[in-house]
Amino acid sequence: MTHSSFGSGPGSQTPDGCSVDLYRRLPYLGDLQDVESELLKFPAALELGCGTGRLCLRLQQLGLQPTGVDESAEMLAHLPPGVAGIQSAIETLDAGRHWPVVLLPSHLINHPDESTRRRFVQAARRHLAPGGIFFAKRHSPHWLAAATPGRLGAAGGVVLVAEHVARDGDLVSMRLRYEADDAAWTQSFTTRSLEQADIEVLLAACGFGSFRWLGEQGLWLMASACDTVVPC
Ligand SMILES: C[S@@+](CC[C@H](N)C(=O)[O-])C[C@H]1O[C@@H](n2cnc3c(N)ncnc32)[C@H](O)[C@@H]1O
Repeated sequence: MTHSSFGSGPGSQTPDGCSVDLYRRLPYLGDLQDVESELLKFPAALELGCGTGRLCLRLQQLGLQPTGVDESAEMLAHLPPGVAGIQSAIETLDAGRHWPVVLLPSHLINHPDESTRRRFVQAARRHLAPGGIFFAKRHSPHWLAAATPGRLGAAGGVVLVAEHVARDGDLVSMRLRYEADDAAWTQSFTTRSLEQADIEVLLAACGFGSFRWLGEQGLWLMASACDTVVPC
């Protein structure tokens, strides 16, 4: 089954419904806080699904040399100075080099389609240097189970409102509205609630091991590539 995503509002939207103008405005909101002390140990990182480079900028501030991958040229056009960008779908990425850190943030691991999740993890594995670490951030299953329409919070001058929430087993479909003083955007998407064990099974099948979950809620996963690579 395919699950469509779309967005609306001023400026352009990516295929997964993110608005470029919204991400240009959003500041760093501590997204990497749970893994920053680990990231500091490395000289460079590849971020899969980097958007305008909000997190790449933070990586740069932490002393890593960031490279960002995104399928949207409009997003990549706004990368901070000094951040290298690669326009590609994550699934088909073939950058021809390896990084000591590969990040899959922004809950992309919760993609509703099993085959796409697997291709994301395979792309991370293909681009990880020997001894490198893969970091992935999942949605909180508790949050996905509890979220109801209404105001969810505010950050960086943007109010976040859930306009629509529907559930079908472990699939959760939402329409989120982002309200700034002078503009508003929506993003509609479907995401799959995943327990830690679900993600560990997927990563193990793609040649990863040594799993460590970080943060109070255990939403960030660190994984190493196994010596013997098992093809997915
Ligand atoms: C929610 S935004 C987050 C951007 C950035 N990580 C941040 O936190 O600011 C997700 C980004 O991932 C990109 N993206 C989603 N799926 C992708 C895919 N399959 N291949 C490449 N880019 C993808 C979108 O174009 C979008 O820019």
